[in-house]
Amino acid sequence: MHYTRTNRLDPVLIKENIMGPNPAKLLEQLLERYPLQAGDTVLDLGCGQGVTSIMLAKEYDLRVFATDLWIGASENWQRFCAQGLTNRQIVPIHADAHEMPYAQEYFDAVVSIDAYHYFGLDKAYLGKHLLPLVKMGGWLLFVVPGFHHDIHSDIPKEMLLSWSQEELDTLHDAEHWREIISATDGVEIVSIEEMEGFEECWQDWLETDNEYAVSDRAAMEAGAGKYMNFLAIALRKQ
Ligand SMILES: C[S@@+](CC[C@H](N)C(=O)[O-])C[C@H]1O[C@@H](n2cnc3c(N)ncnc32)[C@H](O)[C@@H]1O
Repeated sequence: MHYTRTNRLDPVLIKENIMGPNPAKLLEQLLERYPLQAGDTVLDLGCGQGVTSIMLAKEYDLRVFATDLWIGASENWQRFCAQGLTNRQIVPIHADAHEMPYAQEYFDAVVSIDAYHYFGLDKAYLGKHLLPLVKMGGWLLFVVPGFHHDIHSDIPKEMLLSWSQEELDTLHDAEHWREIISATDGVEIVSIEEMEGFEECWQDWLETDNEYAVSDRAAMEAGAGKYMNFLAIALRKQ
């Protein structure tokens, strides 16, 4: 895939601020398949250092609430200002996904890249904390790292070179995610499917100096990637 919008972003911004395999490319691929309307109000949940939030505001002309737990709002706001964004375009929020300060049915859509697996594996999460914030008919678009097939009963040893059992417990296949999301009423599962660009997105991440990227190298160099892919989860509130 050719990443036209990602390529328009500052490559230094991407390299210095991504917190996992290139989230800009993952987002672009997701929105190519499920386009959002310019001007829509979007929650970017687990935005990290805000690369995807900047992209949503600048490249897709969306009004973005850039929400994250580990990264503070002031830090993200400085980054957004440096990119020329204004408080009409983007709002940095420091919040836990379980206690978000938003009105019910406020958002036209939710986007979450490489974060939903930290809180969404709890079957109650979607219906209790996230779906109420979305307008009827609104999209929920997530990308999570996962497996081609769940291999929890026999974790390959190369994966343990970089990741703990606890971290690996957050990786699942499409079937498992379907079962989790099916537990929630009022949401249509439009699709849950494996994405393209796994190697390329990982390569962009492994080339950064981020300490987590450095520690991910051992498993990826030993071939752990063959068990994994990104899953695109597309849901619609009914
Ligand atoms: C692997 S990072 C990805 C960040 C960003 N989307 C990216 O790809 O660069 C996962 C993000 O999920 C966020 N996260 C994890 N648990 C969270 C929670 N309970 N509430 C809000 N954000 C959470 C973390 O703060 C972190 O920034």
